[in-house]
Amino acid sequence: MYEADGTDPMGTEQLELRSRGGLRDALDLRPVAAADLPFLIEMTVLAAFAPEAAPDRAEEMPYVVRWVEDWGRDGDVGVVAWWHGERIGAAWCRILDEVLVRDEAGSPLPEIAIAVRAEHRSRGIGTALLAALADRAGAAGRPTLSLAVHTLNPARHLYERAGFVTVRTEGDGVTMTRR
Ligand SMILES: CC(C)(COP(=O)(O)OP(=O)(O)OC[C@H]1O[C@@H](n2cnc3c(N)ncnc32)[C@H](O)[C@@H]1OP(=O)(O)O)[C@@H](O)C(=O)NCCC(=O)NCCS
Repeated sequence: MYEADGTDPMGTEQLELRSRGGLRDALDLRPVAAADLPFLIEMTVLAAFAPEAAPDRAEEMPYVVRWVEDWGRDGDVGVVAWWHGERIGAAWCRILDEVLVRDEAGSPLPEIAIAVRAEHRSRGIGTALLAALADRAGAAGRPTLSLAVHTLNPARHLYERAGFVTVRTEGDGVTMTRR
């Protein structure tokens, strides 16, 4: 995907990750495109209720749809992980109507959503997605991102390893940010 000079004309990033079997396979991380939006809804259903199971017809709930509708607003940045021609995960951020965290100047920080299909977890894909999202958000002038995670969700460890710090804990919810 890269030219000899290191540029990336397709807007994709190709990473080599070690798979469970020890083989090296190619993972493509591509910016969110309009055709990805149904997949983002699917990923939101995985992320929005974790670690609990999603309710029936969760994909129609405003709590889920708000993460994807109207994609392309200011502050929307996202990356989809492709593996052998299939979408297997995504990380994206956007400024939701209900703002989670504001910076010192009072501006809302984009909030992250992330999920990887269950059969592809624990292979470093979430870590790679988070890093690619942070890079792209930084390049788009959004260096500081926020997220909310359930206290019992093991995703907390992933975020801590990626340098996120807790700024608030309320009930079952932890709010984290990272610059
Ligand atoms: C969180 C998630 C995106 C991580 O993706 P991933 O590709 O497994 O991430 P990595 O392989 O880079 O890192 C794995 C780490 O993620 C964390 N993790 C969180 N949930 C996990 C899960 N269900 N299965 C495995 N690891 C999970 C663990 O800390 C794990 O580290 P460990 O293997 O040392 O215990 C993925 O587990 C997922 O889709 N979970 C369900 C949706 C979700 O909870 N989203 C976040 C909502 S705040």
